[in-house]
Amino acid sequence: MKETESRPPEREQLPRHIGIIMDGNGRWAKARGLPREMGHKAGSKVVGEIIRHCKKIGISYVTIYAFSTENWKRPQKEVDALLDLLRQYLSNMEEYQKENARLRVLGEVDPLPADLRESIRRAERESAGNTAITVNIALNYGGRGEIVQGVKRLLAEGIPPEEITEETLSQRLYTAGMPDPDLIIRPSGECRLSNFLLWQSAYSELLFMDVLWPDFTPEHLNYALHQYARRDRRFGGV
Ligand code: IPE
Ligand code: IPE
Ligand code: MG
Repeated sequence: MKETESRPPEREQLPRHIGIIMDGNGRWAKARGLPREMGHKAGSKVVGEIIRHCKKIGISYVTIYAFSTENWKRPQKEVDALLDLLRQYLSNMEEYQKENARLRVLGEVDPLPADLRESIRRAERESAGNTAITVNIALNYGGRGEIVQGVKRLLAEGIPPEEITEETLSQRLYTAGMPDPDLIIRPSGECRLSNFLLWQSAYSELLFMDVLWPDFTPEHLNYALHQYARRDRRFGGV
């Protein structure tokens, strides 16, 4: 089935926030007889192009799932290659400044190597005043872990049980102050969330696509946005 569209929908039909579970890099490499790391390299090149397209058409928030808390289970060589690509991506400050993009990292940063932590701090600090689009990179991110750390923060702050609400917990998640994702896209044909934005996806529209992430183009995103524009969101109402 054709999963591309040459143009996006009208601006007022667009989601404010989209989440992307980038998946299929390994299969893309395997199909070409290449090591998995080459798939990640190809996949990382797509990220900038898709973010620029999001900005151009008027999407305010994009969250990219780049490395899950479960991805440490992969062979060390692959983990190292993934962290290297993230290091490169996060050090590319000229690109964010040029695009006026604000960069945030969602996830548990403390266990990451010191230089990567430093790149994250710098990228977040230097892009903090940028206003065209917010790009969240979910790195060492897990939805369950995020909720647990939110609960720990509530307890550490001594918040009494009667003040624990959806709102007070939301404010202690990595996405505090941001709108929930309206649309979550997962390429590669897998139909699962794999621990991505579990709390925030309560009413997200989900779209699973067959294309592998390194083959994903702005035209695939346009297709996803048209699918979203056709959905009837009800939030439990009629
Ligand atoms: C997604 O591609 C990249 C990350 C998880 C970081 P995969 O590496 O999961 O690719 P497949 O699913 O094995 O094809
Ligand atoms: C989810 O993809 C994690 C990221 C995209 C970073 P995986 O490829 O790790 O998920 P599973 O193992 O297929 O569920
Ligand atoms: Mg995968």
